[in-house]
Parts: sequence; structure tokens; C-alpha cells
Amino acid sequence: MELRNKVALVTGGAVRLGRALTLALVAEGARVIIHYGRSSSAAGELLAEITARGAEAIALQADLQQPDAVRALIERAATHFGPPELLINNAAIFEPGNWDDTTEENWERHFAINLKAPFFLSQAFAKQLPPGRRGHIINIADWRGERPGTDHVAYTLTKAGIIALTKSLALALAPDIQVNAIAPGLILPPPGREQSYLDSKAAHIPAQRTGSPEEIARAMLFLLHSDFVTGEVLHVTGGEQL
Ligand SMILES: NC(=O)c1ccc[n+]([C@@H]2O[C@H](COP(=O)([O-])OP(=O)(O)OC[C@H]3O[C@@H](n4cnc5c(N)ncnc54)[C@H](OP(=O)(O)O)[C@@H]3O)[C@@H](O)[C@H]2O)c1
Repeated sequence: MELRNKVALVTGGAVRLGRALTLALVAEGARVIIHYGRSSSAAGELLAEITARGAEAIALQADLQQPDAVRALIERAATHFGPPELLINNAAIFEPGNWDDTTEENWERHFAINLKAPFFLSQAFAKQLPPGRRGHIINIADWRGERPGTDHVAYTLTKAGIIALTKSLALALAPDIQVNAIAPGLILPPPGREQSYLDSKAAHIPAQRTGSPEEIARAMLFLLHSDFVTGEVLHVTGGEQL
């Protein structure tokens, strides 16, 4: 798909990986709706940076834990540049929890933000796309969704769910909407951790280095430019999942 003037919604698009995805879409000429939760100043700064380049974007706040806010987001997004044609489900939380100390609150928050919100955003996105118009959904997953360990249980299960959701929606929404996932590896340290934390883990993976947000953005562009890839999970991990 040619991305110039396409309308894209990036959830969690103001910071970290989401910011790189937003900037990559802007560089391709897409008009981006930057969704954010709490990062209002980062969203404002990114918006200023984009508009200073002469590109079009807007920022919309929504708490993805709130079902009403999720339901309304696609409709709100469509009022600015018309119906979104690209949905990038990037926003997620990543909080610790093993089998014996995961609380119901931890479980429910992960499932609401990481899995329920992407599902209902995808549903609303598909329903509002005019008949015959092509679209793409990209879900940002995690390789751990396919090879669960014993830590971050609720998080990992939501990422397993988003991989299953990617394949289910790829079937349901074909041929007009392609649905793919990207499974990142060691890209950015979790909030509160130093880069050295990731570097020590990276020493043990095949690529022997961490990845960058721009490598995730390039994977996203590959999937968006393809008209024939759907239901795929693209690992950008330096081989970590092997
Ligand atoms: N970092 C990595 O190395 C890595 C590795 C594997 C997979 N991933 C996946 O890649 C994606 C991005 O990762 P990241 O590290 O950039 O994530 P992050 O820094 O934790 O950012 C998550 C984003 O989600 C948004 N968000 C969280 N809770 C929200 C809520 N209740 N309502 C609205 N927005 C909410 C945040 O928005 P606000 O800041 O505006 O609140 C933020 O933009 C995630 O899906 C993650 O699971 C990342």
C-alpha cells in the first residue's frame, strides 16, 4: 500500500516505540492520529515537531482501560482526517507477576489494555472503513507470547492472545483489511530500568545486541507496503525467540 495521505491511528504513539512508529508513518506522508494516555506533554511536543515539518497530525487522549473511551476513539479519530485506514495497536503495559503472586487487579489491567482494547479498536476500525477501501491493522506483540516463560504471566498471556487475535482477524477481515503482528525482542529497557539491563540480556541472544525502535518501525513499513502478507507474526528479535 502507498502510505501517502493515508490516515493512521497509533495507540501509545507519543513515546518510545510508539513515537518511532508515528515518525516513520509521518515520513511516508501518512496523516497520523497520535493516541496517548498519560503522556500529554510528550504528545504535544511530538505534534509540534511533526507540524513544524509541514505534515499533518493530531493527538487524542484516551484511557484504554475504559471501555467507553476505547469505543469512542475510532469515531473521534475519524472526525479529523476521515476514516482511519491504518490501525497500529502499540499501547500496552508490562508489569511483573508470577503464577503465585499475580493479583486479579494485575490480570484485569493487562487484559483490558493489552488485549481487550486492541480487539474493540479493531472491531470499530473495521466497521467504519468504507466498503471496498483497503486497510491494515498491525498489532505489536512480543515473542514471549509464543514462548511463554514463568514471569510476567498476565502480560505474556495477553501477547499470546494478540497473536491469536491477529490470525483470527486476518481471516475475518480479508480481503480488504490485512492484519499482521510484530513481535519485538530487546528494544528498550522497561521504564525504571537502565540500558545496561538490556545489554546484559542481549549478550545471550544470537544477534548479541539490542534492537532499536527504528528497526520495529521498518518492520511495520514492510508489512504496510505489502499487499499479500496477512496473519503473519514478524519477529524483530535478533533471534532471541530461537
Ligand atoms: N520495549 C521493548 O523492548 C518491547 C519488547 C517487546 C514488546 N514490546 C511491545 O511494544 C509496544 C511498545 O513498547 P514500549 O516499551 O514502547 O511501551 P511503553 O513505554 O510501556 O509504552 C506503552 C504505551 O502504552 C500506552 N498506555 C499504557 N497504558 C495505557 C492506558 N491505560 N491508556 C492509554 N494508553 C496507555 C502509553 O501511553 P502514555 O504514555 O501516553 O500513557 C505508552 O505510550 C508494547 O506493546 C510492548 O508490549 C516492547
